[in-house]
Amino acid sequence: MRDLLKSMSRRPGALPSGQAAQASTNQTGATQTSANQAGAGAKAGPPADDPANAFHPRILQATIKTAAEQEQMRLAGRLAADVLDMITPYVVPGVTTEELNVRCHDYIVEVQQAIPAPLNYRGFSKSICTSINHVVCHGIPSPDKRLKPGDIINLDVTVIKDGWHGDTSRMFTVGKVSQAAQRLVDLTREAMWLGIHEIRPGAHLGDIGAAIQTFAEPRHLSIVREYCGHGIGRAFHEDPQVLHYGQRGQGMELQPGMIFTVEPMLNVGKRHVRLLPDGWTVITKDHSLSAQWEHTVLVTDAGYEVLTLGAAEREQS
Ligand code: MF3
Ligand code: CO
Ligand code: CO
Repeated sequence: MRDLLKSMSRRPGALPSGQAAQASTNQTGATQTSANQAGAGAKAGPPADDPANAFHPRILQATIKTAAEQEQMRLAGRLAADVLDMITPYVVPGVTTEELNVRCHDYIVEVQQAIPAPLNYRGFSKSICTSINHVVCHGIPSPDKRLKPGDIINLDVTVIKDGWHGDTSRMFTVGKVSQAAQRLVDLTREAMWLGIHEIRPGAHLGDIGAAIQTFAEPRHLSIVREYCGHGIGRAFHEDPQVLHYGQRGQGMELQPGMIFTVEPMLNVGKRHVRLLPDGWTVITKDHSLSAQWEHTVLVTDAGYEVLTLGAAEREQS
């Protein structure tokens, strides 16, 4: 997911102020998909140089993917989901997160003829993220990290196929886990789906955040605020930023052809997080359990299409 604090600090003069706070920088030069084709790469929202947006340049932009681009994204999304399906039977007590990383890497490169997006992304050294228990996100696979019964782990997979990104993550339980852990895993998944169910043309990004927040907080789960969902396409992280909290009717209005992720991180304890000295691993400050689920979603005329369903879920729909 996208790091709000980093992207704000990278843009001097960007002022955080609620939903409109996220002045964002695309390290990868995002938000331009085939802008030169007729009708393609159209940007939703006011132009970046509109003086009215002086304090939050570009934040209201999202690319509209053409039908052909949507098809490419369908493929990338399916491949990312296939990796999670493939790795599922290997997420068992005793396995190391590096073994999971190598299996996913080899499958992506050799079977799918695709590229694992995390590898070398802003210096990340592995091909997937493996986040165990109190690790919120961006856990780095390691041969020293062995799964044990009772662990919960998020595996986050992003593949690049023919230049297009598909990004998805799921939680896995290892052996028998505590009731509290299972509850967190299940409710976080439900929160993601409630957010996704808001997606349709004319809805606002704030509707997604509000749906998640009004579900999670009364259940005494806190929402991580420093990281959020993101537009996705030719770039890993594009505008807009998709917050997992917020207010109905606020934020960008959704239009058919937009593609972004919904990836809430919920904690059993307080929402605050800490970045480890490795520069990547994000943990809960109070060491409470954290969970996350993620899908890449296309806005359609009728509502939404989830591009990263697993094979079993594709059957049903
Ligand atoms: N897949 C993550 C996301 O959902 C981003 C991981 S960046 C990495 O946006 F470098 F840590 F891989
Ligand atoms: Co993501
Ligand atoms: Co991800």
